[in-house]
Amino acid sequence: MLTLKGLSKGMLIDLLDRAENYLSPIGQPAARNAILTGRTVANLFFEASTRTRASFDLAAKRLGADVLNLDVNMSSRIKGESILDTIYTLQAMQVDVFVVRDASAGVPAYIARHVNDFVSVVNAGEADVSHPTQGLLDLLTIRRHRKDIENLTVTIVGDVAHSRVARSIADGLATLGVGELRVVCPPAFAPQPGVISGAKIFSDLDKGLSNADVVMALRIQRERIANIEGIPSTDEYFATYGLTRERMQRTAPDAIVMHPGPMNRNVEIESALADGPTSVIREQVTNGVAVRMAVLETVIETLEAR
Ligand code: CP
Repeated sequence: MLTLKGLSKGMLIDLLDRAENYLSPIGQPAARNAILTGRTVANLFFEASTRTRASFDLAAKRLGADVLNLDVNMSSRIKGESILDTIYTLQAMQVDVFVVRDASAGVPAYIARHVNDFVSVVNAGEADVSHPTQGLLDLLTIRRHRKDIENLTVTIVGDVAHSRVARSIADGLATLGVGELRVVCPPAFAPQPGVISGAKIFSDLDKGLSNADVVMALRIQRERIANIEGIPSTDEYFATYGLTRERMQRTAPDAIVMHPGPMNRNVEIESALADGPTSVIREQVTNGVAVRMAVLETVIETLEAR
C-alpha cells in the first residue's frame, strides 16, 4: 500500500466498507478481531507523528498482532546502519508488515522492492508525495456524512504545494468521481500544474468556499520549505486564508470542516471553528484507526493468498 493513485474504485470502496466494520459506537469498547494473530507489524517512523503512528499501533494490536515500534533515535541507523540493513535485520525477526514514514520521496517503494515476497510495506506518509491511509480516512469521514460524492464540492485550503495529504485525498476523490475539487492557496503554496488532478485553483478564499460541502484546512509544512521568501507571516496567512466561522458562512449550509492534524490553531483554522459543531476533525482521528485496521487486514489477506 504505497499510494491511492491507481487503486480501483472497487478496491477503495472495499477498504472503506471494511473500515466501517471497525467503527463502534462512542462509549462502547473498540472493535477487535484476531485476524493478525501470529503476525508482526513494525512501525518505522523516521519522521515525527502522533496520529498515524498511534493509530497503526492500536490498529495492529486490536487485530491481535505483535507490534514493534522502533525508536528511531535509539536505533542503529544513528550509528550509520543503512535503511535496508535495518529492514533486513527486522525481516530476519519475522516481521510481516513494515509501516514506514519518511521525509524522503521514494523510501516506502524502495523498501517494498527489497523485502521478501511474503512481507508487505504500508506507506504511513512519504515526503510531500503520498499519505494513502490519511486519504482513506478522509474519504471515510466524508462518506459518513455525505453519500453522494459525485454531487459534492470539496475545497482544500492551504499549503497544497508541500502536502501529501492533499495529493492522497485528491487521488481518492478523483477515483470516486467527486463533483468538484477546489484548491485555495497563496501563490507560494500553489501545486505544480497537474499534481492535484482535476482541481480548480483559487487564490481568493471566499470564492473557493462558495457553496462548498466539505472544507479541509491544511497546515503550513514549514519542515518542507527550504526558501521562506514569499511565504506569508502567520498573521497575514490567518487574515487571508485562515478558516473562520465567519468565512464558513459562504459554504453550503451543512458543510463539514476537516483538518488532518497536527493543527496550528488560529493560523490555518480558527480555534472555535475547529472545536465547533461543524468540525469532524476528531471523527477523522477515530476513522483513522478503523481505516488502518482495514488496510492491515487486507494486506494480510493478500499475503496469505500468495
Ligand atoms: N495527519 C497526520 O499524518 O498526523 P501525524 O503527523 O500526527 O501522524
